[in-house]
Amino acid sequence: MATSNKKRRKKRKYRLVLPWKETAANTSAEIQPGVKKKKKKRKLRFDPRNIRFKKPDFQKILWALKHLRKEVWFAIAGVIALICLITIPRAVETNNLKKLGYDKETIAAIREQKLAKTLIDNQWYSDYLASCLKSKTVNTDYLELYTVIEGEKYLDDTDFLMVNRLRDIGYEEDQILNLYKNLRFVELTPLLCYDYQLIEQNYIDDCLNHPENDRTAFVLSNSYRKPYEITYAADPSKTSMLVNKTWHLDANYVPASLTDLSMQCGAAGTRLAKEAADAMEEWAAAGREMNLAFYAISAYRPYDSQKTLYDNYVTSHGQEQADRESARPGFSEHQTGLTVDVTATGDESKDFSETSAFIWASANCADYGWILRYPEGKEDITGYEYESWHYRYLGKELAQAVTKTGMTYDEFWNLYLKPWSDENNIPSESILANTDWHNLLKEPEPAPAEGEASSEASPEAGQAG
Ligand code: DAL
Ligand code: ZN
Repeated sequence: MATSNKKRRKKRKYRLVLPWKETAANTSAEIQPGVKKKKKKRKLRFDPRNIRFKKPDFQKILWALKHLRKEVWFAIAGVIALICLITIPRAVETNNLKKLGYDKETIAAIREQKLAKTLIDNQWYSDYLASCLKSKTVNTDYLELYTVIEGEKYLDDTDFLMVNRLRDIGYEEDQILNLYKNLRFVELTPLLCYDYQLIEQNYIDDCLNHPENDRTAFVLSNSYRKPYEITYAADPSKTSMLVNKTWHLDANYVPASLTDLSMQCGAAGTRLAKEAADAMEEWAAAGREMNLAFYAISAYRPYDSQKTLYDNYVTSHGQEQADRESARPGFSEHQTGLTVDVTATGDESKDFSETSAFIWASANCADYGWILRYPEGKEDITGYEYESWHYRYLGKELAQAVTKTGMTYDEFWNLYLKPWSDENNIPSESILANTDWHNLLKEPEPAPAEGEASSEASPEAGQAG
C-alpha cells in the first residue's frame, strides 16, 4: 500500500507541457523528471507575442500518449463513439434517401419535416412526392397518396375530402391508392354514388375503357349499384336534401307551405313549396321577357300520385324501362315540392329540348336557383334517362355552385353535403373549411406571374389529371 502511494506521488511529479501550448508563464516548467511541480497558480493569459511556431517534438508526443491516463483514453474513445453515433446513421439515412431518388435539397426539406424514417421504412418515392416535399406543401396525413400521383395530376384539399368520403363508404387504403393511381377525379365522383365495390379494379377497368368520359358525359359498360336495395331516409328539413334511388321520403311527407303557381307559370293545380314557387315565378317571368315562355306542367306530386304514375310506366314499358324514366313512390324529387317539369308555351307537343325556351331556360336556370337534374349522358350516375324538362330547386347559391362543378347533384351532394357515417372519417377542420362548397362561388385568385408556381388550386379544377 505504501509503495503504491509512493508510485502515485512519483507519477504526479511529471507534468505534460505540450510544446505548442507554451506560454510565458510555463516555459520554464518543461518536463524534467525530478523537477517539482510549482504550486504557483498558472495564469493563462493570452498574449499574441507568445505565439511561436515550433516543430512538434514527436518523441515527446509519443511519450505523452504512452503515459496518458486510462480515463483520458476512455474520454477520447467516448468522443469518437459519439461522433460515429451521430454521423454514421445520418450518412446511412442520406444514402438511403438518395437511393430512393431524392436530391440533396429535398433531403434537407425531408429532415426538416421529420419524414426521413417514414419515407425510408416504406420506400416511398414519386417525382410528385419529391416536388411537394421540396416545396413543403405535403399534407403528411395523406403521404402515401402522393406516391401514386403521376403525370399532370396533383392533389389538393378536395382530393383529401374525396379520400375521406371513400373511406366513409368502406374503401380500404390500398383500394383508395389503386383508385387514385388509375383514375381521374371526374371518374372518382360517380363512385360516391355507387355501392361499395369489393373489387375496385372492375370499376377502374371499365373507366379505362371509356377514356372519353368527362364532366359533359359519363358512360360505363357495367352497373355498380343495385337501386332501391340499400336505402336511407332523406332529410326534408333541408332544401338541399338529396332524393334519388337511394335517399327517399316518407310516404306521409308533404312539404309545408305548398303554394299554387300562377296561371302564366304553371298548369292548373301545380303547386310548389313557397320558396321554390317564388323562384319559379321569377325564372318563368324572365323567360317571358325574352319571348321564351315556358311553364310547369307538373310540380309537387304526392306519394300516391307518384305510385300511380310509376305503375302506369311499368304497365306500358316494363319495369326495367320504367325505372329509367320514373321514380318509384317515395323516391321521386317531385314529392319534395322543389321540382318542376316544364314545357315551352305554345310548343307543348315538342320535346322541351328542341325548343328555344329550353336553350335559355337550361342555360340560365342556376341564376334563379334551379338545376337541370337529369342531364344528357349522365344516366349512369343519376339513374335516369336525360330529362330536359325536369328541374330541381336548390336556391341560387347552391344551384350556381353545382352548375360550376359540372357534376350531377348526386355527385355534388355525396362529395360536399352528405352527413358522415363514421365521425372518424371526417377530415381536418382546415380541409373542411377549404372544401366548403361556398368557396366554389368565390372569384378565382389572379393568375401567378410567369415563373411563379401556384401552390393552391380551386377545388374542382385541381384534379383534372
Ligand atoms: N321522372 C323523374 C325521375 C321522377 O319520376 O321523379
Ligand atoms: Zn320530373
